[in-house]
Parts: sequence; C-alpha cells; structure tokens
Amino acid sequence: MGAAALIEQALRLVADDLATTERHFAELLASEITVIPEVAGHVAFAGGKRFRPLLTLLAAEAAGFEEPERLTVAAVGELLHTATLLHDDVIDEGEFRRGRPAARMGFGNGMAVLSGDYCLARALQAVAYTGRDVAVRSLADCVTRMAEGEVAQLHGAGCFQLDREHYRRVIDRKTAALIAWCASVAGLVAPRLVEPLRRFGHQLGHAFQIVDDVLDVRPAAGHGRTPGHAGKDPGQDLREGKMTLPLILACEHDPELRDELRALLEAGPPVDEATVGRLLPRIQDGGAPERALAVAREHVDHAVRALHVLPPSPAHDALVGAAYYVVHRSL
Ligand code: IPE
Ligand code: IPE
Ligand code: MG
Ligand code: MG
Repeated sequence: MGAAALIEQALRLVADDLATTERHFAELLASEITVIPEVAGHVAFAGGKRFRPLLTLLAAEAAGFEEPERLTVAAVGELLHTATLLHDDVIDEGEFRRGRPAARMGFGNGMAVLSGDYCLARALQAVAYTGRDVAVRSLADCVTRMAEGEVAQLHGAGCFQLDREHYRRVIDRKTAALIAWCASVAGLVAPRLVEPLRRFGHQLGHAFQIVDDVLDVRPAAGHGRTPGHAGKDPGQDLREGKMTLPLILACEHDPELRDELRALLEAGPPVDEATVGRLLPRIQDGGAPERALAVAREHVDHAVRALHVLPPSPAHDALVGAAYYVVHRSL
C-alpha cells in the first residue's frame, strides 16, 4: 500500500472529528489582539498534515474516548505543534514553512516568538479548563521535555560530533514527547491504555523526526533557497550544522566527507549555498538516507507492537496504517 492510501483510510475514519477539531483549533488561535491570529494563522492555515490531531482522534476512537474533550485535546496537539514551528523557524533561521515564507520573514522574529508563546499558553489553558488533572500534568511534563530538547539541540548545533546518543536525546524531547502526548492523552478514559499509547507515540515520534531529517538531506529540485517538496528549505540541517542521523551516518561511511564537514563546522556555520548544493547529492548517493530509514522503520515496528493491547477495531488498524505512513511518506 502506498503512503497516500495508508493515511487516507485513517483520515476517512475520523473525518468528522477532524473537521470539528479544526474549528476548535481556529477558536483557540483567536485573540482580541488581532495580530496574534494573523501571525500564528500564517503558519497554522498554510496546510500541514494535521498528523498530531489525527493520532489523538484515532487513539480516542480505539480507546473508546467519546467525550467532547477528545476534540479539545486533539486541537491542543496542533496548537503546540504550531508554537514549535513558529519558534523553530526563528532558531533555525528557516525561510520557508509549508510552502510559503516562514512567519518570521514577514512579521519578524519577535512577533513569531511571542505569537508562539501565545499558542503555548492557550494550549495549556485549554487543557487546564477541561478539568482533567492527568492531562494537565502529562502536558506540563511534555512541554518541559520539549523545551529541554530545543535547548539541547541549539547547544549542540555547529559542533561537529558523530554522537548518536545526543541526537537520540534531542529528538526524544523535541519531537517524540509531543507525539507521545497526543497519542497517550486519548487514554484518559482507559488508564490501562495510557502507557501503551504513550509508547506507541514515543516510538513513532522518533521515526517521525528521523524521516524529517532524511527528507532534509534530499537535494532541492531548483537552484538557490526555494521550498522543497516538504514545503521547507532542503539542506537546512546541514546549513546550520545540525548533526542529524543521516548526516552522522553519511560521515561514518565517508571519511572525506567527515573531514570536510568537521572543517566547515569548525570554521562556523552557516555552510554556504554552493557547498550545501554539492554535499547533498553526495550524502544522498552514499546511502545514508536508506540506513537512517531502516532505523526509522525499527521504531515504527516497536510503535505498532505497543498497540497489541488495544482491542481490535478499525481505529486500531488505522493507527497501524498511520504509523507505516510515517516511513512511507519519504519513499
Ligand atoms: C515538522 O512537522 C516538524 C517536525 C517535528 C519534524 P510536520 O512534518 O508534522 O509538519 P506539518 O505540520 O505537516 O507542516
Ligand atoms: C523539528 O525539527 C523541530 C520541532 C519540534 C518543530 P526540525 O528543525 O527538523 O523541523 P523542521 O524541519 O524545521 O520542520
Ligand atoms: Mg527547523
Ligand atoms: Mg527538519
């Protein structure tokens, strides 16, 4: 089955809930300070896979969580994601997001950061108002870990290190923590399912970030900085000296590349455009993306195994499909 078919089945199953969640999401972005929804809406309504709400809604369906709060927590997942995107493009100096200029390009870094903070605050507020203490606590833990991940990543950026453990620590926090929360919060009504759903989301989150990092080393079709097929600037991790798994694996395999990259990062990022344009095809051809994808596939297998305790249902099958979609979308 192709990537589109894997996800379409999942999208169809919770289509009505996704539409309602989208309305909640827009309501949560609203503010009397109208520039906030303008800045946040620039990224929020520019597309996006809505993968996190999809996971929450499928997991809710699989766990028998029928109360209306399932829609609130689903919207909150996308709201937190929006906050991280607004912040991330400032930190990474990303110029494109979802196929258009990043919010910071039009509104400036300050407005992007503060509007991201608003999304974060609204997300915490919305969950607090559900009165579900377990969700509030798990979300607070999640946000703390996300902040740790971003700091650890920025601290390590530009340092040449082939350190898989550092990479794992960063993605565990910056990406997997949120995806794990989005899945596990659906277990609110079935406490014995919280931990399996968390494990599912956690493993899937690792795969998700590895695949994103594989897509980042895919050479751009055009010249100069243009949005690639993921709607962001390809090569951004290399440009910024962010040692992702495909870059680590490429250097382990190719000592000349390793020495060149070490020298480039010692001279200080950003790596210039001509060098990025020359190195990306070399990384691609050396097979590192395939080796990174094999690691992502292992995480997806672990994720799917964690779902075994869920009762059989179409939602269970759709969660499995959504998990395989994560690696298939890169093929
Ligand atoms: C991008 O997330 C940021 C990562 C955590 C890798 P997505 O790939 O879900 O981005 P959108 O929401 O579809 O734009
Ligand atoms: C994901 O890492 C960071 C977030 C959690 C937003 P990236 O820096 O790789 O994300 P993209 O590629 O810019 O979306
Ligand atoms: Mg980024
Ligand atoms: Mg990326």
